[in-house]
Amino acid sequence: MLANKKILLCVTGGIAVYKAVALVSKLSQAGADVKVVMTESAREFVQPLSFQVMSHNDVYTDTFDEKDSAVIAHIDLADWADLIIVAPATANVIGKLANGIADDMVTTLLLAATSPVWIAPAMNVHMYEHPAVLRNIDRLSRDGYRFIEPSEGFLACGYVGKGRLEEPERITELVGRFFGQHDDRPLLGKKVIVTAGPTLERIDPVRYISNFSSGKMGYAMAEAAAALGADVVLISGPVAIDPPAGVHIEHVESAAQMLDAVLAHYGSADYVVKSAAVADYRPKAAHPHKMKKKEGDSVLELERTTDILKTLGEQKTHQCLIGFAAETNDAVAYGKGKLQSKNLDWIVVNDVTDPGGGFGSDSNVVTLIGKDGTERTFPAMEKKRLAGELLALIAAKGSDAQ
Ligand code: PMT
Repeated sequence: MLANKKILLCVTGGIAVYKAVALVSKLSQAGADVKVVMTESAREFVQPLSFQVMSHNDVYTDTFDEKDSAVIAHIDLADWADLIIVAPATANVIGKLANGIADDMVTTLLLAATSPVWIAPAMNVHMYEHPAVLRNIDRLSRDGYRFIEPSEGFLACGYVGKGRLEEPERITELVGRFFGQHDDRPLLGKKVIVTAGPTLERIDPVRYISNFSSGKMGYAMAEAAAALGADVVLISGPVAIDPPAGVHIEHVESAAQMLDAVLAHYGSADYVVKSAAVADYRPKAAHPHKMKKKEGDSVLELERTTDILKTLGEQKTHQCLIGFAAETNDAVAYGKGKLQSKNLDWIVVNDVTDPGGGFGSDSNVVTLIGKDGTERTFPAMEKKRLAGELLALIAAKGSDAQ
């Protein structure tokens, strides 16, 4: 699959360096010619010899260690590569690259690179969530660098959270897709954020406000986007269904958490699909203890949540925004209003009182409306099939409609 492809792997210092050895092995097995450059800290974790054995190539560690007098190594390597991957990428190398610092072999060749550069971060969850790191990631995303998001799980530091280097098999699969010349999947190489399910707004530790969304429509959209080749981040409210294979899932509870999760990915996203049924109101104060019942009626004071989709519409730079409208009457007219007021590219309108669709059902009946004037009503069909048809149409017309 990767025959004749030249991949330069830049390895920086973290415990996940051992997974980079497996990555070289996977890429080499797939037929790629892999060369490795290591920082000094990376060499504290694994010896260059391991990478040399796996890649069958010299390993580069020092800007001034010129192995071939006919060329300058860091320029030659940068020119040689069809694709450069930084894995694991520490907060340090991300920060340096975001600020144009070139003080070792890895950062120097990264500034000299003209081929695509992918960055696979791995670090402690709190480091990954630090505003400076998020700012640097956002900046690099805007500069055209592609990030392979870390996954969630047990971290070597003892924490559980986001920060694990993506698995070598998955990175190899993404590289395969990138080079798949005969792959005609329309969302290949695109990052798609999908939100799904309800949000849950706490009243006290045992009560909440929510809605009947099962997540089926959103999960179907995520599965369809992955099948069309996209890198999918699925941001899900509390649901009782399993996530589709091959998508990154992030679990949230409230509208406020969903807003934060979506914004964290927004800068590097190509499409956002907002299928979630987000609460418009939440209790003004969530009581820390179970509220005791009293004689007579009680009034619960509510306040507005942030409209996530409207916020995305206001901050839109290049993203294609796809909203859903859950209506009970005059669905198309209300849907068109939301398309315009939230600055969307597309809106999927469903009348949730229709017996063929809506909340919880396996099927749905929708009208897709584009800001380019497209209007197409789909007959009742399985949400999974419908999701594929909606996204195929949007991907085919996406750039025209934007
Ligand atoms: O999950 P299922 O059981 O399969 O049901 C699917 C569904 C009916 C939930 C789905 O098809 C659907 O219609 N989702 C959108 C529900 C909704 O919140 O619609 P709305 O018309 O209230 O909101 C319009 C859009 O604004 C939506 O894309 C919504 O995600 C977004 N929104 C709304 C409020 C808010 N505070 N922030 C938002 O981003």
